[in-house]
Amino acid sequence: MTCHTNADLQKIVNEAALHTVYGEVAGYIPALAEVNRHDLSAAVYNIKEKSCIYAGDYQNKFTLQSISKVLVLALAIQDMGSEYVFGKVGMEPTGEPFNSISKLETSIPSKPLNPMINAGALAVTNMIKGESSDEKWHRIIEFVGRLVNDKNVSCNEIVAKSEFETSWLNRALCYFMKQHGVINGDVEELIDIYTRQCAIEMNCFDLARAGAVLALDGKDPETYEEVIPSDIARVCKTLMVTCGMYNASGEFAIKVGIPAKSGVSGGILAVVPNKCGIGIFGPSLDKRGNSIAGVKVLEMLSNRNDYSIF
Ligand code: DON
Repeated sequence: MTCHTNADLQKIVNEAALHTVYGEVAGYIPALAEVNRHDLSAAVYNIKEKSCIYAGDYQNKFTLQSISKVLVLALAIQDMGSEYVFGKVGMEPTGEPFNSISKLETSIPSKPLNPMINAGALAVTNMIKGESSDEKWHRIIEFVGRLVNDKNVSCNEIVAKSEFETSWLNRALCYFMKQHGVINGDVEELIDIYTRQCAIEMNCFDLARAGAVLALDGKDPETYEEVIPSDIARVCKTLMVTCGMYNASGEFAIKVGIPAKSGVSGGILAVVPNKCGIGIFGPSLDKRGNSIAGVKVLEMLSNRNDYSIF
């Protein structure tokens, strides 16, 4: 598997990097506030050529944050089946911010609107099979490791601890859902696994490779072995289109037109079906929590290569 710099991609990254000044890094998780907001790196894993191009400092590692939601969803559906998962969590987009509690209270019966908002993702993580909290966590990290073909993929303990110690709103979502029978078990244990999955760390090349698996309907881009059953990969990609960029998903679908999932660390996982997986890291965020320069990179890539699926 080759990976090399690319002048065209570097040009796009340089142009997009001009936008980092207009955003802010996420401040509500203390450890995330310590990064350089002007960083920007991108990698594109081309399926046909089995090769990867990158621009910027692609060795820069970042935590997945909300990007983990789509990966853990793929595992939860394998564990529990689609009917069970979507019996507890909806499939509809929301115009609310990712950590909003308001819709939980007004939906009857109480059900998070989709697996890409915090409430839905917490409920999905609660479904992961395992005899113990340790086993559940290991199944998650092993699964993510298979997507990036890197057994050394790991959790950034500093970021995990920082979020665990400040995750009051997520705890509130959990207690609300526990009262209404959406989740069960110990809330602290769930918050521990969830904050660890959000703190799984990789670089944009690894992320692009995970995107390539989804682009290939769940097959490993090197061995063509099935990592995610194709019907589950399809569900993940569809939810990425409708809900992956939070309450900016509609605008993103028009301007970029590909399945994508962002995280407050500034990562974006994007998928061009049957063509490539894309990984981006740019920690300066726009008002809706998406990487401000990362979205620009995707806009330019999509326009130049006619990537939109619409
Ligand atoms: O639960 C949280 O708030 C974070 N660990 C993840 C949120 C996130 O990445 C939302 N992204 N835009």
